Amino acid sequence: MKIQAVRGMQDLLPEKQKIFRHVDDVVRRIFSAYGYSEVDFPVIEYTQLFSRSVGEATDIVEKEMYTFDDRSGDSVTLRPEGTAGCVRMAQENGLLFNQIQRLWYSGPMFRYERPQKGRYRQFSQVGGECFGMAGPDIDAELLFLTARIWQELGVADQVTLELNSMGSVESRKAYERSLVEFLSRFRSSLDPDSQRRLDSNPLRILDSKDPNTQAILSDAPVLIDFLDRESTEHFAQLRQMLDDAQMAYEVNPTIVRGLDYYNRTVFEWTTRALGAQGTVCGGGRYDGLVEQLGGRPTPAVGFAMGLDRLALLMLEQTDTAGGSGIDVFIASMGDAARARALLLGEQLRDQFQDVRVQVHCGGGKFKAQLKKADQSGAQIALILGEDEVKAGEITVKNLRDESDQYRITGKNLDKVIDKIVLSR
Ligand code: HAM
Repeated sequence: MKIQAVRGMQDLLPEKQKIFRHVDDVVRRIFSAYGYSEVDFPVIEYTQLFSRSVGEATDIVEKEMYTFDDRSGDSVTLRPEGTAGCVRMAQENGLLFNQIQRLWYSGPMFRYERPQKGRYRQFSQVGGECFGMAGPDIDAELLFLTARIWQELGVADQVTLELNSMGSVESRKAYERSLVEFLSRFRSSLDPDSQRRLDSNPLRILDSKDPNTQAILSDAPVLIDFLDRESTEHFAQLRQMLDDAQMAYEVNPTIVRGLDYYNRTVFEWTTRALGAQGTVCGGGRYDGLVEQLGGRPTPAVGFAMGLDRLALLMLEQTDTAGGSGIDVFIASMGDAARARALLLGEQLRDQFQDVRVQVHCGGGKFKAQLKKADQSGAQIALILGEDEVKAGEITVKNLRDESDQYRITGKNLDKVIDKIVLSR
């Protein structure tokens, strides 16, 4: 029996990997333009870190974590998200006290969800986390940053910003009580999941896809009416900042996010182009989390975007990943020419750092080699046969026009390659 990939895990084939790399380049440049520093932290953490931050009653902790005992019997978990690990790292290494931090990371996350298009059990996130800033200005800046990423990736017209405020812990609790009181009257008409959540995590009922539950919810109290004065003010100022920047958004009072640590600003960037898994980015404030994990009170806000979903979105457009893989293909016939071809490849890579060279390896008929050269997307093929080796020359064939091939001496190759670099 053939061994296959574990269910829900994805292989990244060249086309998708190229998009990931492109996204990574763009994201890296933009984070740097906003003064963020890149960090990394382990894929495995003690289980408690996630249960205490993401929340015991959330779907993630209840049923989606890859949790196991390591060989010394400690319960560890493959990270389902990055915020908890980032906070742990920042606190443990003294990055938080009396400091302002803008940090970013990228890497794999793991959730045991039901796999479908855009939803995997291992997926990649890029996230940004900011510490030490309480005002709405950093919330706005972070939204500008994400918008700039969409702009540069060419997907800005495909995504919409949805915004909400969850208020303070107290106002959220007051709302929760009122929602439970309202929904309890309809308990038996709710879908089974929502009935269960009524006792464990009532806010998540707002996310229910069940039409009956949604109909009941249309008359339910809304979170925004319960906001405390400071949170109302924070939210109004944030909206003003977005308006001043002419940034489009919708206030969506049902956005409560699937993780427990949020307060005040929460947001999601969504698209209609990906079916059910339409959220490409989500985040918000989590002013209480650092303290909850044993640190001093530290205001914080952040977001994470799903690279897999972004890649899907970009794959639906053409030519987003930019450029083909290589510029020069080197073909050869005969043992002596084959050895020369390898050396010529090395020489070109030494001399021209930007030029991408592929040397044909593995022999084969000349015609077949030229077909490969054409498929490679290269601009030119450099051909070495016995004649060329004897004469110390190279045949140059332009693969992208009908011009005749010609021979040159090795000395004159520089000019040919320079021309390719200029025309790129
Ligand atoms: P999240 O909304 O759980 O937030 O995930 C962020 C993004 O990761 C989602 O919008 C989605 O694009 C992607 N994602 C989540 N689950 C999957 C999956 N199973 N397959 C593919 N993509 C997925 C967080 O993780 C928070 N840590 C965000 C944050 C940072 N909040 C504050 N700071």
